Amino acid sequence: MGALDGKTVVVTGATRGIGRSLARRLSAEGARLGVCGRDETALSELKGSLETPVVTAAFDLSLETPALEFLEKVRAELGGIDILVNNAGFNPRKAPLAEVGTDEFDSIMAVNLRAPFLLMRETAREMKERGGGHVINILSTVCHSDMATMGAYTAAKEGLRALTNVFRKEVLEDGIRVTSVYPGGTDTDFRPNPRPDYMKPSSVADAVLTALTLPEDLVVHELTFRPMVENNF
Ligand SMILES: NC(=O)c1ccc[n+]([C@@H]2O[C@H](COP(=O)([O-])OP(=O)(O)OC[C@H]3O[C@@H](n4cnc5c(N)ncnc54)[C@H](OP(=O)(O)O)[C@@H]3O)[C@@H](O)[C@H]2O)c1
Repeated sequence: MGALDGKTVVVTGATRGIGRSLARRLSAEGARLGVCGRDETALSELKGSLETPVVTAAFDLSLETPALEFLEKVRAELGGIDILVNNAGFNPRKAPLAEVGTDEFDSIMAVNLRAPFLLMRETAREMKERGGGHVINILSTVCHSDMATMGAYTAAKEGLRALTNVFRKEVLEDGIRVTSVYPGGTDTDFRPNPRPDYMKPSSVADAVLTALTLPEDLVVHELTFRPMVENNF
């Protein structure tokens, strides 16, 4: 008997890193999963390694139509979505704002800010009809530190921080819980070089799972955690 038996959970960016670890943990707790990313092979491998039903879709999250079709496919094959985890995100490189091109800026906004907005708007509509649900948005401790050379990524995450905080108030009466997760450095492909001194993606997944499985008479609004080596707070 798992803590998420019978729940349908959507996780974006599940092909690697935090999203893949989280998908595995959620499935181990009994959740049915809708997972996406652009890497079709990685999605198939993930599906093959899990025992609960899994719907996969490979598409670029900066595009609206395939994102909506993905949600529709999850609903059709797994039933109503109980939990949405907006995890996918990227920062193409570190560069001062003076060197960031307009297309680069737009793509950072499209994936890190617009896509989570779109998915939370669409799933909340349905969660409201079904009497509740839980939205988890993966932000970052960059929201607390405004680091040089990460301007566009930080702006996207801070934009999502604001949207998440507003949304939390707007959907409260619909029984929808909204949690902002602020991880610090995590050892994933997010950055070009390994950082074994940073958190493991599985540790971040454990923290997210905790927020999802606490008693129902509370909601975690915000969760901030860092590796022990980080002192930029
Ligand atoms: N690692 C850190 O230190 C850290 C710290 C704080 C917050 N975060 C946040 O944590 C989340 C997960 O990051 P991670 O560390 O696990 O990074 P990661 O290993 O690079 O994984 C990123 C995931 O996002 C997906 N993704 C990226 N661009 C996409 C696009 N255009 N369309 C669809 N999917 C896309 C990737 O899938 P495909 O490549 O298959 O498309 C991949 O599954 C992100 O939101 C990141 O900002 C990370």
